[in-house]
Amino acid sequence: MNESKYISPTTNGSPLDPATGLSGRRITRFSPPPFSHIPVMAESVTEIFSTVPSGPILDATIGGGGHSYGILKSREDLNVIGIDQDPEALAAANSKLAQFANRVSLIHGRFDDLSGVAKQIGNQKLSGFLFDLGVSSYQLDNPLRGFSFRNEGPLDMRMNPESQITAGEYVNEATQEELASLLYNYGDEKYSKRIARAIVSMRPILTTKELADIIRDAIPARSKRSPGHPARRSFQALRIAVNCEIEILESSIREAIRLLKIGGRGVVLSYHSGEDKVVKRTLRQLAGLNTSNSKYHPEVRQPKEILLLARKAQRATSEETLRNPRASSALLRKFEKVSES
Ligand SMILES: C[S@@+](CC[C@H](N)C(=O)[O-])C[C@H]1O[C@@H](n2cnc3c(N)ncnc32)[C@H](O)[C@@H]1O
Repeated sequence: MNESKYISPTTNGSPLDPATGLSGRRITRFSPPPFSHIPVMAESVTEIFSTVPSGPILDATIGGGGHSYGILKSREDLNVIGIDQDPEALAAANSKLAQFANRVSLIHGRFDDLSGVAKQIGNQKLSGFLFDLGVSSYQLDNPLRGFSFRNEGPLDMRMNPESQITAGEYVNEATQEELASLLYNYGDEKYSKRIARAIVSMRPILTTKELADIIRDAIPARSKRSPGHPARRSFQALRIAVNCEIEILESSIREAIRLLKIGGRGVVLSYHSGEDKVVKRTLRQLAGLNTSNSKYHPEVRQPKEILLLARKAQRATSEETLRNPRASSALLRKFEKVSES
């Protein structure tokens, strides 16, 4: 792998020496870990697709192919079209799903562009789709990708290493107000203003560890006692901004539902409240349910295009979260298409 591909440019445009940041702090070199990711609520996902009509299932975030593996193994009459914006994930999915190669097509891209999928299915429609949102454990655990506040790495956080803006550019170029609003809106960070002020005063910041230390020092001592790393929410917020995760969610789910056949099913797994809020609102609208909180201003309800298969989001069991702590924040929403809009 070309390591420099994952190094953020400095604010003056010249590439950062992969061995030392602008601050002169040394970035330890790592070889990337092997791809590893445990699919969340995999049995439930396979079970949801057990009754759908034969045909294509869109795995819009195929990652290492764990969910798709279960789906393909459970039914020979289903095939998978898998999308991921991360070429390393696609390579992992390709080898994980090798035994089903004649029933798998993989597309490098973002799930808000389903034109490649529409081309693959021609005049057919989808039997099902899955959005397993966010990052994979591999992306988080690989320090070269810059997602982790625990390991030293470049401030990158791009799921697609070919996309333009890195976390380093946000951190070093956004205004204090922009940073504070990003941390608040995407990370629910109550100390967003303090953290933004500290970041701006310490710029340039070049590595994940430098940023994590600045955030930790900006937070009042009493809050550092609450569980979880003090930089967790800020790193989540930056990652969401770098990868435009929230902006594209609603339109992508609507488009996938448009491509679904009657009786086809959709599953969305989200991992934080901002994401789930968008998913829940979109699905309730399409299910013809009220999404307004005010009884004085009820929303005009849309015709019912989908049926929610459960009123509340499903959570992982305690046994699963013990085996796979990542599952603890997962919220699964499932539905079936019942009519064309
Ligand atoms: C939680 S992982 C999926 C894991 C997968 N279900 C499995 O079983 O291995 C999410 C994956 O979605 C990809 N991803 C996130 N947002 C995306 C987007 N907008 N378009 C395409 N891929 C995306 C990430 O690169 C990551 O590989």
